[in-house]
Amino acid sequence: MTKLGGREILSIYLRARRLLFENGTAACITSANHDPKQFRDPDRFDPHRENLASILTFGRNAHMCLGRNLATREIDVALRVLCERFPNMELAPHREVVFAGTQFRTCEELWVRLNR
Ligand code: HEM
Repeated sequence: MTKLGGREILSIYLRARRLLFENGTAACITSANHDPKQFRDPDRFDPHRENLASILTFGRNAHMCLGRNLATREIDVALRVLCERFPNMELAPHREVVFAGTQFRTCEELWVRLNR
């Protein structure tokens, strides 16, 4: 921690660029993943983005998630089984999807119609 203009500044290195954060600043992965300079049409769900590897969901470098492979495998299996079991599933009409969370973006509820 260093002082700059009387304020406490935490300096970190991010991708070889030196950024200075005032003490108490929180880095927001959610926001970084929606950076239009980094991702074209950032709010569109696109699991096939050409630069998908740039997302920060699982952290980076020294802060990389140790459970990343397990988590992505679990998500892959869960979604695959769900879609196989309910191939006609669709979003329930007239139910708003409310997103929340600063560190991890998630929806509070996701209503679907199974259409069995
Ligand atoms: C979708 C699920 C998950 C997401 C989005 C996620 C995300 C993250 C992120 C962003 C970090 C870095 C935090 C930091 O800035 O220091 C992290 C660290 C970590 N995660 Fe995950 N994680 C997930 C699931 C898991 C699972 C399933 C496990 C274990 C079975 C796990 C174990 C860890 C551990 C041990 C660390 C600390 C790594 C270290 O500091 O050396 N995570 N995770």
